[in-house]
Amino acid sequence: MVAVILAAGLGTRMKSRLPKVLHRVGGRPMLDWPIAVARAAGAGRIVVVVGHGAEAVVAHLRDTHPDVQTATQNAPRGSGDAARAALPRIGRGAGPVLILCGDVPLIQSATISRLRAARRSAPLAIVTCRPADPLGYGRIVREAGRPVRIVEEKDASAAERRIAEVNAGVYLCDGPWLGRAIRRLRPSRGGEVYLTDLVAIAARTSRVATVEADAREMIGINDRADLARAEAVLRARTIEALQRSGVTVCDPATTFVDPTVRIGQDTEIHPGVQIRGATVIGRGCTIESGCVITDSRIEDEAQILPHTVVRESRVGRGARVGPFAHLRPGTDLGNAVHVGNFVETKKARLGAGAKANHLAYLGDAEIGAHSNIGAGTITCNYDGFVKHVTVLEEEVFVGSDTQFVAPVRVGRGAYIGAGSTITREVPAGALALSRAPQQIIEGWAARRLRRRR
Ligand code: UD1
Ligand code: CA
Repeated sequence: MVAVILAAGLGTRMKSRLPKVLHRVGGRPMLDWPIAVARAAGAGRIVVVVGHGAEAVVAHLRDTHPDVQTATQNAPRGSGDAARAALPRIGRGAGPVLILCGDVPLIQSATISRLRAARRSAPLAIVTCRPADPLGYGRIVREAGRPVRIVEEKDASAAERRIAEVNAGVYLCDGPWLGRAIRRLRPSRGGEVYLTDLVAIAARTSRVATVEADAREMIGINDRADLARAEAVLRARTIEALQRSGVTVCDPATTFVDPTVRIGQDTEIHPGVQIRGATVIGRGCTIESGCVITDSRIEDEAQILPHTVVRESRVGRGARVGPFAHLRPGTDLGNAVHVGNFVETKKARLGAGAKANHLAYLGDAEIGAHSNIGAGTITCNYDGFVKHVTVLEEEVFVGSDTQFVAPVRVGRGAYIGAGSTITREVPAGALALSRAPQQIIEGWAARRLRRRR
């Protein structure tokens, strides 16, 4: 089977500089979805028809789907003309040809399987559905129950507009038959060549098989309202799959999980959470409200408390992060680490059991296991030109309000007195203090008052 994906249209209704098929659905460009479905359905070759915005679309394909071929439609003369542009790439004597639209991303491979079964008895099989509002879709005109043609919204009579069954834009054809039929397509009154006229051509000499699918799966994305609708459908699908696999999602309506995310059993996701990209979350974790987690790994039993932002980081087994923590790229928290409120980390490795419970900035830092970072501790990692590293060995105790002026190193088991500015190496087991000795001036307040009077 060869798959042809139509993606050359103007996408005018998106009102965008970005080609429509590169707008993201479920965290990846819309076009990636039909490509994935074509692959899953066993297409030996995939041909994407490009035209409007071809440069960007071709660049995307080259970078992410190098095996996918392209065909160019020189001017947007309609979906039939686009399919015609793919003919030279399909070749003669080909097996069945699956035609998908780049703007119908939610189609599932089970539907393609049903389509394949239906096509065995006909040269052409199409997918239909019954959306709550059929506005904008081509209607399936049947006579004595058999589909005889598709009429587009703008060409339809009032009676035809009342037809609830519409064309989803997915076609499976016998290869040689398609080659002949496409040559017989003629422009409509508006000058566009409709691919949908294949139905009338097939119905004249043979029959057209139809497979009805869930309308939510067949949403065609023409504008940004459709985009949001598709996103919502995909989101519900993703969350339901997580729930069925043993993840508790307290409030699906406010939970955003990309389909690329993996989450283990017995993890609980509280309301208002976003989990993005290549994130992997283990078993038995809790992700509380307001967290945004992107491209990160959260190990089993970790707790991410409310309003924590995590990006390109790892959180170890049983660790506790937040509320209001910010783990920036390159953070690696060991097992049972605690990172508390208003702690920001970046390129920071915290060994097992280390704690930074309040108000700290740890950037370009290596913190040994079981070290304790006092409130208000800051690594001064940037000298205005380059970043430097702070290294704390294991079991270091850092008093509150300490600054480490990097590069600097603190030996195992050392203590840092509160309020210190550490600029030189601290040997293992030592106490380092840099604060000025406290002075007491007795009776000062009363003397000041007398002076002011
Ligand atoms: C199309 C169908 C309609 C169906 C609907 C399903 C036609 C004539 N109509 O309408 O029956 O209900 O999809 O979503 O096909 N394209 C090109 N080159 C062109 C024109 C379009 O490659 O010159 C591509 C588009 O990129 C898109 C697809 O063909 O992927 C459909 O085109 P679009 O303009 O979106 O058609 P619809 O009005 O949605
Ligand atoms: Ca469309």
